[in-house]
Amino acid sequence: MDGKHILLIVGGGIAAHKALELVRALRRGGDRVTPVLTAGGAHFVTALALGALAGAKVHTELFDLDDEAEMGHIELSRSADLIVVCPATANLIARMANGHADDLATTLLLATDTPVLAVPAMNVRMWAHPAVIHNVATLRSQGVTVLDPDVGLMACGDYGPGRLPEVHAIMAAVAAQWGDARLTGRHVIVTAGPTHEPIDPVRFLGNRSSGKQGFAIAAALAGLGARVTLVAGPVALPTPPGCTRVDVGTARDMAASVETALPADAAVMVAAVADWGVIPAPAKLKKAHGAPVIELIANPDILAVVAAAGPRRPTLVVGFAAETEDAVANAVAKRIGKGADWIVANDVSGDVMGSDANTVHLVTADGVEDWPRLAKAEVARRLATRIAAALTAAT
Ligand code: C5P
Repeated sequence: MDGKHILLIVGGGIAAHKALELVRALRRGGDRVTPVLTAGGAHFVTALALGALAGAKVHTELFDLDDEAEMGHIELSRSADLIVVCPATANLIARMANGHADDLATTLLLATDTPVLAVPAMNVRMWAHPAVIHNVATLRSQGVTVLDPDVGLMACGDYGPGRLPEVHAIMAAVAAQWGDARLTGRHVIVTAGPTHEPIDPVRFLGNRSSGKQGFAIAAALAGLGARVTLVAGPVALPTPPGCTRVDVGTARDMAASVETALPADAAVMVAAVADWGVIPAPAKLKKAHGAPVIELIANPDILAVVAAAGPRRPTLVVGFAAETEDAVANAVAKRIGKGADWIVANDVSGDVMGSDANTVHLVTADGVEDWPRLAKAEVARRLATRIAAALTAAT
């Protein structure tokens, strides 16, 4: 999926803060975002936050001498592949539907033939008001894609339709604009990070996994429209937009959370799960008592369990194999041994753990593909695209 250029118009509603999450999701998916902040939107998010996340100048004024000298507003809307209005408030929808051009956002929307996706968010009663229903119908008749809001508890305490759709749903709608919503309606479980196996209340056995690769994969899958359950070991990474995160500590916790998250269309087990756990001492072990003998007990192999889950087995089960020697040979054997469909082998003898780049080999039933050294985000995008293609081919 090639990166697209998206003009994002942020309207003035309490859901505007979710536009920030959307910006992050779009950028993680490789898209370029040019933000336009309405006067209403500026009451809820700052141009500074929006611009920082977009990595781009935020446009706010219709009559801005600098902007006009650099790039007129007509050009601004025409250079985009898609205009996303998020949140689309009742007021913005009304002005769009009636062809107003009284600020930068509405003028851009009039001065373009670029496709427009409007993501409404408003109070339940506003959404149900005949005027809004009429305006939404008008917009749809003009070719604007207007998403239906989610049903749920509103910021004002009301319950019903009016909530901004989840970021993964917006991402799916964006992807659908280029016929690319390849994981829409699919559920994918991703495990990521290390596990911590407590020895006593203050000590644990762990490993150096940073969780970066797993989180990047979760983000890329969500970027293709998947509903992602991210089962994360102890890492300090932010939750990727559009993912439902379940934080766990031990391998047994992780196994239980994965089991709870089933069924899924695909499972991507990126976590560096401790092979052994410990029955933790109830109180801190004392140095004065001498070096303790710590008995290790085998943890469940989550990947193997999921791959053997019978009717609950995901269509595609993907494992990772971090190796310091013979990465590919080990991965080939691991694919068979664990019953996985694919194994992504990575050589961790260098600086992979915690770094932003990775060199991997994709081991499938058809053979081994050597991928070049890539940023972890790019490994994630390629893998997500492959997963989407495999699921499409399988069903
Ligand atoms: O056997 P090894 O630990 O190298 O296998 C790595 C793969 O198996 C990874 O996908 C990892 O997430 C998964 N795994 C697991 N549960 C374990 C051990 C490994 O899911 N207890």
